[in-house]
Amino acid sequence: MSDLHNRKVYYPNEEFSKNARIGSMEEYKKLQDEATNDYEGFWSRHAKDKIDWIEPFTNTLDESNFPFVKWFEGGKLNVSAQCIDRHLDTRGDKTAILFEGDRGDVQRISYKELHVRVNKFANLLKEDFGVKKGDRVVIYMPMIPEAAFAMLACARIGAIHSIVFGGFSSEALKDRIEDAKAKVVITADGAYRKEKPYLLKPVVDAAITRTSPVEKVLVVERNNEKVDWVDGRDFSYHKLVENKSDECEPEVMDSEDPLFLLYTSGSTGKPKGVQHNQAGYILWAQMTMEWVFDVKEQDVFWCTADVGWITGHTYIVYGPLAMGATTVMFEGVITHPDAGRPWKMVQDHKINQFYTAPTAIRVLHKMGADEPLKYDMSTLKVLGTVGEPIDPPAWKWYYEKVGSSKCAIVDTYWQTETGGHVISPLPGATPIKPACATLPVPGIMAEIIDEEGNTPELGEKGLLCITRPWPSMIRGVWGDPDRFKKAYFGDVKKNGKPVYFTGDGAIYDKDGYITVTGRTDDVINVSGHRMGTAEVEAAILKHDNVAEVAVVGKPHDLKGEGIFAYVVLKCEEVCKEAQEINTIIKSEIGNIALCDDIVFCPGLPKTRSGKIMRRILRSLAKGEEITQDISTLEDPSVVACIEEKVKN
Ligand code: PRX
Repeated sequence: MSDLHNRKVYYPNEEFSKNARIGSMEEYKKLQDEATNDYEGFWSRHAKDKIDWIEPFTNTLDESNFPFVKWFEGGKLNVSAQCIDRHLDTRGDKTAILFEGDRGDVQRISYKELHVRVNKFANLLKEDFGVKKGDRVVIYMPMIPEAAFAMLACARIGAIHSIVFGGFSSEALKDRIEDAKAKVVITADGAYRKEKPYLLKPVVDAAITRTSPVEKVLVVERNNEKVDWVDGRDFSYHKLVENKSDECEPEVMDSEDPLFLLYTSGSTGKPKGVQHNQAGYILWAQMTMEWVFDVKEQDVFWCTADVGWITGHTYIVYGPLAMGATTVMFEGVITHPDAGRPWKMVQDHKINQFYTAPTAIRVLHKMGADEPLKYDMSTLKVLGTVGEPIDPPAWKWYYEKVGSSKCAIVDTYWQTETGGHVISPLPGATPIKPACATLPVPGIMAEIIDEEGNTPELGEKGLLCITRPWPSMIRGVWGDPDRFKKAYFGDVKKNGKPVYFTGDGAIYDKDGYITVTGRTDDVINVSGHRMGTAEVEAAILKHDNVAEVAVVGKPHDLKGEGIFAYVVLKCEEVCKEAQEINTIIKSEIGNIALCDDIVFCPGLPKTRSGKIMRRILRSLAKGEEITQDISTLEDPSVVACIEEKVKN
């Protein structure tokens, strides 16, 4: 970080700024000042302007029971109506979802058609499955339009969806189903990857045990592969949906009724069900689409995430549809059949905003640095990154080769818990610096502070916090209010009051720009996906011959971070353990948590009170010389032993 203060500055494209919603730093500052001086007035103005209220709200913000806050109380709305119905008169024939399948098949679903599909889906859930307002519905789906229909159908009838990423194993799916007590699972037989069919339904079958709360499973036929069928429990979507009415009155929802749960990793072995509610979430999803991506009426917007992650929720489905945009949904793998696939899609669909993770950028760069030059990429206006810090070489390639040195790059920092962007450049206003999330989005009171709320010295790392509640913030951890308080509001105070701590470290540069340095807790970031080391450890401990384990992150060229496990065996004779450990991880969590390195060692470096010194393990994984004082360890000799094993 030595050159943090001297990074090259790239100014917004003048032509772009002229037409941008926020076209200068003066406008940015005006908005941020307005929010600082009249916080509730700022949010109330936008909420009135952006949301089609069934009944207006009477109170903007109630903080009396902080951190359990309430936004826009008294207001009534329906998120699916916000995303669909209100566009029918003005853009009914406009494409809402532009789907490209793995094998190149394309579907264009207009707002009118989306209305029909979502209403039929909603009627199916109500009539055939008895789903009611407040019921939890787990969605375990590939990237096909029906995944979006399912989300919006839940929103329409007031059911709370919980999407589980299709790469999670049956055990992980089972835990999430049971924690949420979901009575319905929506899945597909499977889908296509690299032109080959794969299956999802068997994972659902394995996740539903005798004591499962699940009563019914809805199966969308995508590839028509043969799958097992449990009579009375499993139902074909296409058969049931056919004769459903295409009118379904949207349920009238309170601003603070739950909209969805999304499980994410924390620092314990058990993932947390992050809860987002109606009005605040949809407001910020829409506002950030407009401000951060500056999507215009004719634009085509592509976010490459999976709907199983928060990025897919907010920036494939809810944000784009709430603002009436055309959103691209892609089933396939971006490097298949070659690393030109995304650029061909940009050309074919005339994409204007492209949003992806640094891992994808690194892979595309490595596999085909000149591929973007083969396609007409002139429609691109804004490029985005999300999920992990981007390194300057990847940033430079993205800027120059993908964006032809004319597109703004918005390095958007946010989390499952923040619902939408919280720190990001605005493409028509903010001068950008490579690999820097820059400044808080207007309305967000993000600051770098220490545990007592003081600003660190320039160049010193601090804790990235948000000091006032914002509309799209997490409303709770499902079923665990104490965990919600402890996990997010327990560590940092400002003026004596607890504030939201993101779990990330960050540094200000001389211009007040924020550079995020990464997690300060035991959460690692693999290819932009959050993974709790404790979760991986809990899986590894299921191996009969494992006595102890410690998992840390290690820098990885493509994935950002890789997973490095130090394992102490009960019986030291190592034979197939490494392979078996990864097999267990695959079945307990999924392929995304497989270890890149497993080192068997005689013991772990522990303090006399038994605490594992992860700092030492992180240094050893990186191959660094151990310079820290290890004399306080219970058995200092173990360090040299591990070092030896790591080298081999
Ligand atoms: O460590 C930060 C990193 O991703 C974490 C949030 O992960 P998740 O909830 O899975 O959401 C990912 C997509 C929003 C953060 O705590 N992170 C996210 N965006 C950035 C980032 N790190 C650096 N720069 C970013 N732009």
